[in-house]
Amino acid sequence: MIQFFDAPVLGIESSCDETSAAVTVGSKVLSNVVSSQADLHRKYGGVIPELASRAHVEAMIPVITEALQTANMSIGDIGAIAVTNRPGLIGALSVGVSASKALAWAHKIPLIGVHHLEGHLLSVFANQDVPPKLPSIALIVSGGHTEVVFVSGIGEYKILVETLDDAAGEAFDKSARLLGLPSASGIEVQRAAMGANPKRYSLPIALPGDDAHFSFSGLKTAVLRLVEREGESLNKNDAAASVQHAIVEALVAKTIRAAQSVGCHSIWVVGGVSANESLRTKMKSACDSIGASLFVPDFQFCTDNAAMIALAGSARLAKGDRSDFDLDCLPNSPL
Ligand code: KG4
Ligand code: ZN
Repeated sequence: MIQFFDAPVLGIESSCDETSAAVTVGSKVLSNVVSSQADLHRKYGGVIPELASRAHVEAMIPVITEALQTANMSIGDIGAIAVTNRPGLIGALSVGVSASKALAWAHKIPLIGVHHLEGHLLSVFANQDVPPKLPSIALIVSGGHTEVVFVSGIGEYKILVETLDDAAGEAFDKSARLLGLPSASGIEVQRAAMGANPKRYSLPIALPGDDAHFSFSGLKTAVLRLVEREGESLNKNDAAASVQHAIVEALVAKTIRAAQSVGCHSIWVVGGVSANESLRTKMKSACDSIGASLFVPDFQFCTDNAAMIALAGSARLAKGDRSDFDLDCLPNSPL
């Protein structure tokens, strides 16, 4: 059973290209404001760190103000501040961490630095009346990470499956770019794939016999070859459906096998790619077929958001963890 902090928590997230602030009380999310920089970076085809930091500076105070207003609170009502301090873009992280230190110091409230992936893990608790079960198998699937983790408590994580190369979100994004979809993101692949034929083009489902690893870089090469071979006659919708099929099949198969290998009947799917409808549907039927319960966050808590950071910080604070004012930002950090 996971306990949460007994006072309202203000969460702050700025590890990549979303500035976000949220207020939680227990597992209830009172506000979750996300300001995305996607439009700013689109023309460069990727996140430009210097631009990201500057945009976080501009958005930080307005986003925090809106999160407090939506929660109908003032900063004086907040009992602690939770902030993503690792991993991420160092300049981007520093903006959220500096703002959090200033607020915690000025209002004499505890501060807790949160690992971004622990935030994604705890996103399954957001607004859940029936708390997700532990121990659990969690598929963390985002733009930077693809891991299956055995979760037995806060801070008790054992990685069972990891990727040898690209993350699944990266495979979605790169395939979207190669197919010439409106933007290089997984949501565009999902849109293009809707109602299309996933069997028209055969793309590799990676490493079927290796239960300890994912690999998505071969898929990217296969998509490149497909685009070159088919040229003008490529059906983009069927190609997008084939990409989605190849990624989702690998994610579902390895998560289910990991759950079976440890005899676990609770499965969580978190991170940006957990917003994918096909993944949600296929994971649900796979869980039903082995008698496991599936927990996935609401869509607003799948991609980067501060509510998940407030929840992870809240769980850490309830265990007695606190950060000092010398809290560092780390570009890389294992879960
Ligand atoms: O968790 P997240 O917001 O940021 C990271 O921590 O990386 O995940 C972003 C990733 C991107 O690769 C994005 O394309 C992917 O999640 N994503 C999706 C969908 N929505 C977001 N991929 C597939 N289908 C979606 N509906
Ligand atoms: Zn993330």
